[in-house]
Amino acid sequence: MERRKFIKSAALGTGAITLAHTYSFASNTTKKVKIGFIGVGGRGQGLLNEILTLDWVEVPAICDINPNALAASQEIFKKHGRQKPSEYGIDELDYKRLVERDDLDAVIIATYWQWHTPMAVDAMKAGKYVGVEVPAALTVDECWQLVDTSEETGMPCMMMENWSFRQDNLAVLNMIRAGMYGDIVHCHCAHSHDCIDHWFFDKETGKDKWPAEFLVKYNRDQYPTHSLGPVLSWMDIPCGDTFDHITSMATDSKGINTMFTERFGKDHPSARRKYAQGDIVTSMIRTKMGKSIIVNYDMQLPRPYDNEWKIQGTLGIYNEQRTSLYLKNRSPEYHQWEAFAPYQDKYNHNFWKSNYQGEGHGGVDLIELGYFAEAVRDKIQTPIDVYESVLMSCVVALSGDSIAKGSQPVEIPDFTRGKWKTIKPSFAI
Ligand SMILES: NC(=O)c1ccc[n+]([C@@H]2O[C@H](COP(=O)([O-])OP(=O)(O)OC[C@H]3O[C@@H](n4cnc5c(N)ncnc54)[C@H](O)[C@@H]3O)[C@@H](O)[C@H]2O)c1
Repeated sequence: MERRKFIKSAALGTGAITLAHTYSFASNTTKKVKIGFIGVGGRGQGLLNEILTLDWVEVPAICDINPNALAASQEIFKKHGRQKPSEYGIDELDYKRLVERDDLDAVIIATYWQWHTPMAVDAMKAGKYVGVEVPAALTVDECWQLVDTSEETGMPCMMMENWSFRQDNLAVLNMIRAGMYGDIVHCHCAHSHDCIDHWFFDKETGKDKWPAEFLVKYNRDQYPTHSLGPVLSWMDIPCGDTFDHITSMATDSKGINTMFTERFGKDHPSARRKYAQGDIVTSMIRTKMGKSIIVNYDMQLPRPYDNEWKIQGTLGIYNEQRTSLYLKNRSPEYHQWEAFAPYQDKYNHNFWKSNYQGEGHGGVDLIELGYFAEAVRDKIQTPIDVYESVLMSCVVALSGDSIAKGSQPVEIPDFTRGKWKTIKPSFAI
């Protein structure tokens, strides 16, 4: 495949991180990349299954406190004809031995949420690139820990936000960058995914799985990054604009109790338990340059999956639910929707013409992993950087703060310390 190089000089000028984004659109390389995995449960195994298709990526070590997860992962290595990796996981801190290995270039973290930041910080301190699952951080203090450690060590930290790499979202990004929607003034996004019947609680027994405790203790947008990921690139955040403040509102919590009552009876302890988490959380974010974003959390009511992306600009509108758009200077009929599909073909992003043709999440996972691994290989900035990672993640904590204060606006810290005014857009350039 022809090797095409797009080099965007995106020196961030912040701390030690002055690496440029570079995309090669090819995996013809003899240089190997060595990546360790921490957390090889459902998501970790999914990522392993994709990344092991890249012959220039090796995974010499895996870590998990659950022996069953380690055993199931070994089967994935066998399936791909790969060498057996070393295993870690004698206790919750054993990952530290993995990140200290001097043969690793990077680690990918797919553990429980509360471990993401501590593991990412330790890995960066050990000189490793970090790819960390969503959300990267649970508190504002953790967000700062990631930024400070990344700046101090010079090690990039990418939250693995796969929806930023979706084919439709990237085609829309190309159209925005071609000026077709004019100035973007507003976006709507949602994570509408009923997860209480399989992910928060066990499908068969109803027993708590590890994320259930977050629904008992907290009332906030627990999962804002899949919805916000593409919005950041559509709105040039934090590269020309950034978040200013957030106002959030939650409904009462009814969905979880109803699900348990219906499936296990009204006397089941989980049917009678009180959950802090409201069913629907709606957050409004105002940006410093006067734009707005609506972010919906919707994971506890029965419904098909949806992201409800909508973009409004001075020259047009895109509506993902309708798979339609309207462009003032282009659409054939005045104020009538037209189909998005031909535009997706025409503005298809180069990421989707690459060698990274995988299966996970409709193909996005291998594209995300491929470009992460290329960044590690070429010692350049990761496709999603630490500032983008924490801006998406901070909505977890700050939506909770706003809800607790009766929906009062809460300031969103400027994690770039003013650099958002000069950083140039570089995601998927
Ligand atoms: N991007 C996506 O599309 C996507 C999809 C699903 C899950 N996720 C994210 O992936 C992460 C994992 O979710 P999951 O569904 O795979 O959960 P899971 O329970 O299936 O896997 C988590 C694994 O982490 C291990 N673990 C926990 N603490 C550990 C520690 N201290 N040391 C070593 N191993 C540890 C557990 O034993 C478990 O095997 C979560 O952060 C979740 O939000 C992302």
